[in-house]
This record gives sequence, C-alpha cells and structure tokens, in this order.
Amino acid sequence: MENPLLEVKAVDVFYGDIQALWSVSIQAARESVLALVGANGAGKTTLLRAISGLVHPRTGRILFSGKPILHLRPEKVVASGISLVPEGRRLFSQLTVMENLELGAYTPRARAGFSASLERAFALFPLLKARIRQIAGSLSGGEQQMLAIARGLMSQPRALLLDEPSMGLSPIVVKTIFELIQVLKKEKITILLVEQNIYQALKISDFAYVLKNGKVALSGRGEELLTDPDVKKAYMGTLE
Ligand SMILES: Nc1ncnc2c1ncn2[C@@H]1O[C@H](COP(=O)(O)OP(=O)(O)OP(=O)(O)O)[C@@H](O)[C@H]1O
Ligand SMILES: [Mg+2]
Repeated sequence: MENPLLEVKAVDVFYGDIQALWSVSIQAARESVLALVGANGAGKTTLLRAISGLVHPRTGRILFSGKPILHLRPEKVVASGISLVPEGRRLFSQLTVMENLELGAYTPRARAGFSASLERAFALFPLLKARIRQIAGSLSGGEQQMLAIARGLMSQPRALLLDEPSMGLSPIVVKTIFELIQVLKKEKITILLVEQNIYQALKISDFAYVLKNGKVALSGRGEELLTDPDVKKAYMGTLE
C-alpha cells in the first residue's frame, strides 16, 4: 500500500509476563474503514490501546502519516490526530453532555476549533444538542454511545478508533452507528472499527483483519472475508 495513514509493524505487547500481541502488523489506507474482528481476548482492544499510546509495545513500530508515534504519550497521540472511543464508552457519567464534549477538546488545536467542532457534533447528533445540560449517566445506552463518539470527534481526528461501539445497543441504534461510520468516512475520517457484530463490520469495511490469540490470522477486503468459509465457520455462526 502506498502512503497509508496508519501502519503498525510487527508489534509485540505484554501485560507483565503475558504476551497479548504477537508481531501484529496492520495498515490503514487514508479515508478508509478498517475492521478488526476476532473472538474475546484476541487482542483487539490491546491493539487500539497500543496505537493510542495507552500501552507501550515492547517491540515494533507504529507510524501515523509516516511519523513514528510508538513512544508518544496518549495526549500527544490525540494531538497528532488519532482519537479512541473506548470499549464501554468511559464517559464522565457525573458530568453533563456539554462538559463531556469540552473534555474531548483538550488539545490546543481542538480548543481553538471548539465552536466549529461543537456545531458539527450537534449536526451529527441533534439528540445531544437537546440534552446538553443533562448528566451523561442519565442518557440511554444509545445516547451515551453517541456522546462517546461525539467526544472522540471533538479533538478533530483524522483517525477514529471505535472499540465495540454497538455493544449492548438495540438493532435500530446499531444501524444508526453503522450509518454514522459511513458518514464519517465521507468526511475523510479513517475509521478503525472493532466489532463483535462481524457481519455488519465486514460489510461496511474496505479492509479487515481477523485477530486470533494475539496474532493476525487473516486479512483481506471486507467483502472477501465475508465469503471466506473459515471466517463463516469460526466467527459468524448464527449471524448470517
Ligand atoms: N490489563 C491487563 N492485564 C493483563 N492482561 C490483560 C490486560 N488487558 C488484557 N489482557 C489480556 O490480553 C489479551 C487480549 O485482551 P484484549 O482485551 O485486547 O482482547 P479483545 O480482543 O479486546 O477481547 P474482547 O472481545 O473481550 O474485548 C487477553 O488474554 C486478556 O486477558
Ligand atoms: Mg476488547
């Protein structure tokens, strides 16, 4: 691939003595949707955390727009244009919707562009605008996920990492989230999508990696993997 936005090269991650990622390499093309799928414990979250600077790989390289980011602190990774919407949303549940959005815009560039980002967030999520003074913890699950994504966008990322955004949500909200991902792609944001909802994730992704026991087991265009007999057998079960 020429000039990818994000490159992870032969990354090993350990938690103490336990190795969670084994020489993992992935590439994300500019303005694409990349799906990362795999069973529980496969290392999907660890990979997003490594890219975000929240865990530091023992070996390997991570390049964003050609620049090494492996040893950057998390806030510097955000400033460089990568934003993580974590597993389980991790909102500040005692704070208001507005306060959560403000906390998403803590880098200097994000602060400078705050009002434009806020307007854009409200255009994407009109529901949040109506609930701006509401305490985040009192929102519905779907609204909380929207807020988590909106907060992630407040730093004006070029790459948005979504860790299981559809987790625990109703089918209609899940559909909204998958539609939103396509809107963001059109707005030239590259998406790394970790999903249990494998069928839908592969369907909307340009390229996908299947992780297994901390290693890349398979990769290919989303649509190719959808028809791959091994993927069907191992991961899709009743989802078809
Ligand atoms: N903080 C931690 N300390 C020790 N081991 C960890 C820690 N976080 C994750 N692990 C281990 O690393 C491996 C990968 O976990 P990870 O959370 O990345 O998987 P995942 O693919 O995101 O799983 P899930 O689908 O359940 O979210 C697992 O074996 C897990 O037990
Ligand atoms: Mg996970």
